[in-house]
Amino acid sequence: MSNVDRTKRKIRAVIAGSRVPEDPCHADNTLEWLLRLEPHADDALQLAALAHDIDRAIEASKVKRADFDDYDAFKAAHARNGAKILRPILNACGVAGKMADEACRLVEVHEVGGDRSSDLLKDADSISYFDVNLPLYYQREGWAETKRRSLWGYRRLSARARKIVGTISYGEAAMTRLLQEVIHDKLAG
Ligand SMILES: [Fe+2]
Repeated sequence: MSNVDRTKRKIRAVIAGSRVPEDPCHADNTLEWLLRLEPHADDALQLAALAHDIDRAIEASKVKRADFDDYDAFKAAHARNGAKILRPILNACGVAGKMADEACRLVEVHEVGGDRSSDLLKDADSISYFDVNLPLYYQREGWAETKRRSLWGYRRLSARARKIVGTISYGEAAMTRLLQEVIHDKLAG
């Protein structure tokens, strides 16, 4: 097994311990969306896709929403802490040098993007929120918070990713309606 495959296995094992039920599925689904958007995504980008939310898997050091007034500040701290957790995992699995630096950098900027790789990661992450997280988020958080979170997520999608998200439908009609309202509100505002 290659170092990269070993690292992916380790990241999955850590995320399996998350108390957020959608996290394991979201990690793999983000990697799947990344590879649909960019079949030639390099190893650093693939590792970052799998690990981008690893902050949420370690309860003791997890960044908490309640500690932040500002949602973007919360997300930035979440991304920074994720990169901090990923670094020793990469070291332990023998992933070092440029690949390790790039994977950690990508995790750190995954909420904001800013270059081709991090923009791809941001799109894959955001599409995956709508693909697999939204129904579970809705069950836990209810209509108003899910709509706020979804509008935040929809706004950061690229035009290409918005087209993809526009085709998603859910088993529950209420959620499809929520998504349509988000798309409409975004277009209106
Ligand atoms: Fe994510």
